Amino acid sequence: MAISVVVKNKSFTQGSKQVKALETINLAIEKQDFLTIIGPSGCGKSTLLKIIAGLDTNYEGTITINDRIVKGAGIQQGFIFQEHRLFPWLTVEENIAADLSLKNKEVRRKVDELIEIVRLKGSEKLYPKELSGGMSQRVAIARALLREPEVLLLDEPFGALDAFTRKHLQDVLLDIWQKKKMAMILVTHDIEESIYLGNRLAIMKAKPGKVYKELKIPLSYPRNRTSPDFQTFRQSVLKEFEHTENESYIEGLGI
Ligand SMILES: Nc1ncnc2c1ncn2[C@@H]1O[C@H](COP(=O)(O)OP(=O)(O)O)[C@@H](O)[C@H]1O
Ligand SMILES: [Mg+2]
Repeated sequence: MAISVVVKNKSFTQGSKQVKALETINLAIEKQDFLTIIGPSGCGKSTLLKIIAGLDTNYEGTITINDRIVKGAGIQQGFIFQEHRLFPWLTVEENIAADLSLKNKEVRRKVDELIEIVRLKGSEKLYPKELSGGMSQRVAIARALLREPEVLLLDEPFGALDAFTRKHLQDVLLDIWQKKKMAMILVTHDIEESIYLGNRLAIMKAKPGKVYKELKIPLSYPRNRTSPDFQTFRQSVLKEFEHTENESYIEGLGI
């Protein structure tokens, strides 16, 4: 097993109150899994992903990646935020290299390869202010991949993009997953996105946040959003939401 996620309890202090954000989460992610996690706004998706990334260590539980306990953020967990976090004063290729030198031959070779993979050829010398949202997110993904992480963690990475760009980047991401054969965990509130991308799906519920259903996605790649199989599976996922007592759950999903 590649990644084990055990969170027994995660609480935040809000004013004078303690708010429980997550309880009893147990996930096992295999080396080549693409796990998508879906749930409404506020159910704890970002909190969970930050814990897996080692960006938040103030919780009860244990995260292990290849038998190593995660004690803080590290390069084995690449993290992609909803808003890209590029350095405005660096070009595309410099942003990808970041603290590594492009003068180093091996770095140069890998950066060039990644520029191809994320389809940014010809844009290497542009600055972030000259990029679209989708291009910026591809730079952020290439920067994470250059560090050869064991898992790529993506927090609603395409949420701020238009529908066309979002679909394109979903295909770029699937391409990377298939080429690099690495584990990915992507959280989203978009049901279609979660089904299009993942080989496994975890459905979260709010107050307190927990995973209440895990499913294998029984569709072969490449997937077709309009195929009967896709639509049938989508309906079965939607049905899961009907079982939640909380009406706002479906509203929170924006469907
Ligand atoms: N830094 C924080 N301080 C206090 N409460 C927080 C903090 N971060 C998240 N929360 C609370 O934890 C819950 C889950 O938030 P979050 O993980 O951001 O949800 P999601 O990503 O699913 O929208 C929410 O109730 C939110 O208010
Ligand atoms: Mg979030």
